[in-house]
Amino acid sequence: MIRSVAEYVKEIYPVTAFEYDQVIASGRIGQFLTLMHELELKGDERVLDVGCGTGISTVKLAQLLPWGEAIGVDITDKMLEIARQRAKAHKLKNVTFLKEDAMSLSFPDETFDVVFSSYLLPWVPNVDQAIAEMYRVLKGGGKIGIITSATGSYSVFYKALAALIERYREYYGQVSPEVLIGAKRFRASELQEKCARAGFLPMKVLYVGYEEPITPELYLKKMNSVTAELYLKPLPRPMWPEARAYLLEKLAELGGEELLAHERSLMLIGSKRSS
Ligand SMILES: C[S@@+](CC[C@H](N)C(=O)[O-])C[C@H]1O[C@@H](n2cnc3c(N)ncnc32)[C@H](O)[C@@H]1O
Repeated sequence: MIRSVAEYVKEIYPVTAFEYDQVIASGRIGQFLTLMHELELKGDERVLDVGCGTGISTVKLAQLLPWGEAIGVDITDKMLEIARQRAKAHKLKNVTFLKEDAMSLSFPDETFDVVFSSYLLPWVPNVDQAIAEMYRVLKGGGKIGIITSATGSYSVFYKALAALIERYREYYGQVSPEVLIGAKRFRASELQEKCARAGFLPMKVLYVGYEEPITPELYLKKMNSVTAELYLKPLPRPMWPEARAYLLEKLAELGGEELLAHERSLMLIGSKRSS
């Protein structure tokens, strides 16, 4: 029942690509810009966007690089398709999208001036290896900018899922909501340690977030565009409507007078020692 994170990625992103783009990624543009500001781009860099998804950040990077270029890589064809359409609509010549696995990038060592990566790390099978690959393809003196989900993010949803697991324990067994969704959330110290171990120099870390007053229905729609309702899979299909209704009830109950979709994210800015 508990599958590998790579299997989750294969199931989720081809189905949710369009909704993910509309409901989730487009709302994160402010975070992307904050991280790009922190990276102090000069405009002539070669930047890699690892796990670029539907390319919102890659296209923004390309616009900030009039004398440089942005390359977005992702493992999901459907996400890349939307990313390419976006680049075409913006008539950009300095952006390219390629199908690549973040675990083993095909680029030679020291190819990029900057490596950017947003919300990829919760989904990779081995976070240390993904960070090591980012380090390898970065030039000496180059910069890294990572955004990822932090502990505390969407906590009401995780609590509602825990209640769902409890209610249908015979189907779920002993499993945590995090494992069920496949995505990991990070503490700042944990991510800093991982980056330092890969060789990155001491880094700046920021927590950013927002709290959105939201109805239970919209909350579930938001989460479903990230999870494709994979958390319902252990249940027999005829039970899905009652399980959904229970989740909505729990969200309303846990949210109290005003339900807040609370996203808490972690940004890390680092560099590779000059060679
Ligand atoms: C949460 S989305 C983030 C997309 C985009 N960076 C954003 O912030 O909107 C995660 C992305 O990581 C991609 N992904 C997951 N595992 C990957 C891997 N091993 N290599 C490359 N991309 C991967 C998925 O296909 C998906 O597009």
